[in-house]
Amino acid sequence: MMGALELRGVRKAFGERQVLDDISFDVGAGEVVALVGASGSGKSTLLSILTGAVQPDAGEICFDGSPVARERPFAYMPQRDVLLPWRRIIDNAGIGLEVARVPRGEARRRVRELLEPFGLVGTERLYPRQLSGGMRQRVSFLRTVVQGRPVLLLDEPFGALDAITRDELQRWLLEIWSANGWSILLITHDIREAVRMSDRVLVLPSSPGPLTGEVLVDRSVDRIDGFITDPHVHRLEERLHTLLGEARHPSS
Ligand SMILES: Nc1ncnc2c1ncn2[C@@H]1O[C@H](COP(=O)(O)OP(=O)(O)OP(=O)(O)O)[C@@H](O)[C@H]1O
Ligand SMILES: [Mg+2]
Repeated sequence: MMGALELRGVRKAFGERQVLDDISFDVGAGEVVALVGASGSGKSTLLSILTGAVQPDAGEICFDGSPVARERPFAYMPQRDVLLPWRRIIDNAGIGLEVARVPRGEARRRVRELLEPFGLVGTERLYPRQLSGGMRQRVSFLRTVVQGRPVLLLDEPFGALDAITRDELQRWLLEIWSANGWSILLITHDIREAVRMSDRVLVLPSSPGPLTGEVLVDRSVDRIDGFITDPHVHRLEERLHTLLGEARHPSS
């Protein structure tokens, strides 16, 4: 299978500080890949390189087998809540489209089509402060997917949420991901979340260098209700904890 997204030998330093070195991996068409790594290991930097906001020092990024152009076929959900407080929900959700020069009326029409599946009916005229944290995250996610790009780049989409809201949002996302077949690169530092949400988990080391691990998640795992008690999940989590530990204290 050709990778929807392929990275080859990506490297980045900020001044003297090497952050990423020799990063290579693929995300297949329709595959959900989670990338875990300690805080500061360069996860957000990697996504900024993918969006084109940050220029890598070396390496290649391909989509469907060809190097990406300036206009990237990726939709990006940033780590922080970036809803604009002075814009109503309908227009917050349409910002990505407006940036891509879709007229506001058309952007609103496309957003409206998604309000129902995103559980946001009735919020279109509200402002972000009038929504719960979970709802705001759904608006951010709607804003990302409404752009209709084939690859989604999500930077810690559950980071700011309490455990219950997080669990609800994970369940909901699992349903709409399976219905839509997107290719997704999900950044998280939560191992359990990585295993629950993805087909494959990659480990980014905290000292710059190639990825230090890869774990395949059994597709038969019940990710909704049986997840917490599944023995396969426990084995994967243990393995990932070890890989992250090794990444933190490399034995020479
Ligand atoms: N624009 C920048 N200029 C200088 N240093 C930067 C810049 N962006 C990131 N860094 C540094 O690169 C390193 C990696 O940062 P990055 O935000 O990618 O980590 P992260 O893995 O996303 O962390 P977290 O889990 O806390 O979000 C950090 O040491 C950070 O200070
Ligand atoms: Mg980050």
